[in-house]
Amino acid sequence: MTKHKIFFGNSNNMAKVSNDSVDLIVTSPPYPMIEMWDAIFFQMNPEIKNKFENKDYLAVFQGMHEQMNKVWDECNRVLKEGGIICVNIGDATRTLNKDFQLWSNHTMINKYFIETLKLKALPIILWRKTSNKPNKFMGSGMLPPSAYVTLEHEYILVFRKGTKREFDDTSIRYESAFFWEERNNWFSDVWFDIRGTKQVLTNGNAELRERSAAYPMELVYRLINMFSVYGDTILDPFWGTGTTTLSAMLAKRNSIGYELNKEFKSVFNDYLHDIKKISRSINTNRLEKHFDFITQREETPKHKNSNYGFGVITSQERGIKFYNVEEVAHDKDVWSVKYQPHTFLKKTKQDELFR
Ligand SMILES: C[S@@+](CC[C@H](N)C(=O)[O-])C[C@H]1O[C@@H](n2cnc3c(N)ncnc32)[C@H](O)[C@@H]1O
Repeated sequence: MTKHKIFFGNSNNMAKVSNDSVDLIVTSPPYPMIEMWDAIFFQMNPEIKNKFENKDYLAVFQGMHEQMNKVWDECNRVLKEGGIICVNIGDATRTLNKDFQLWSNHTMINKYFIETLKLKALPIILWRKTSNKPNKFMGSGMLPPSAYVTLEHEYILVFRKGTKREFDDTSIRYESAFFWEERNNWFSDVWFDIRGTKQVLTNGNAELRERSAAYPMELVYRLINMFSVYGDTILDPFWGTGTTTLSAMLAKRNSIGYELNKEFKSVFNDYLHDIKKISRSINTNRLEKHFDFITQREETPKHKNSNYGFGVITSQERGIKFYNVEEVAHDKDVWSVKYQPHTFLKKTKQDELFR
């Protein structure tokens, strides 16, 4: 069983979360200097609004990051030694006072995490939402030098607190492992294959989700699988519509979320309508993809997975086991999720396996 708690309040004070209690943080904050988030920062510190009105934009940018740094301080406090934090962040481009400029949010976060929090930087991931629209380009058209490159990527910054995590009992790492071919894709530093949230989650209030700037479930689910094991606790201090909680539920991890805006809870409840179906389909899809990969290879695999009977490339994949969401119970802002092992491949695949 896993547990999932949401606190509606400011994550610059996560008093309900103890020191050194979280294994992994996956989050996407409001991006400073992106207009849709101005109001949230102005509200946190009206001085930022004054600076904006006085056109002191560098001070605005710094002030917004200072607000976020309070949340990062709390993240650092609650993260366990050896725990990892993944921050999804985009830089902002904006014309203010007729002057176009890039506001490099990822640089500010890197600097604070490395210099102040003394977190260890790990290799980062760029992920791309592709747009081929010819009108996506900014600036002076075909006339040099004032045309600007279009930003089509976002960053996933990855940091670790202290030295790498040690396990007394390593069996959970083997059960939570991913396939060799998934490793080859997931651990590359540019991701082109993340689909938008809407394609996976079709239910619910599209307008609210748009306003929340939700990140794709596939992205979070992947990060959780890469950087934690079954039963771990995942925190998202900028919970939004709860994509992180949904992904933690699907990946059989516990979770904690903090969010200012209660309104988004209804979007999360919409996600839950389909969770059993999504869970089965993700597990079936991963197993079938692996099955196709292994059966199409010319070499006979050296190892066998003990739960599904198919070949695997390495001995580390022999214990991989998937779990389906069976039941979700709800009491106020706490959800409990029960699981059953995912035991089957589709009938046609089983026939191929034992032919
Ligand atoms: C980019 S959105 C996160 C979207 C989320 N990842 C999702 O998939 O729905 C940032 C969220 O952080 C919330 N937020 C901003 N500052 C906050 C703070 N200090 N404490 C708690 N929530 C905050 C905003 O209300 C917004 O919902």
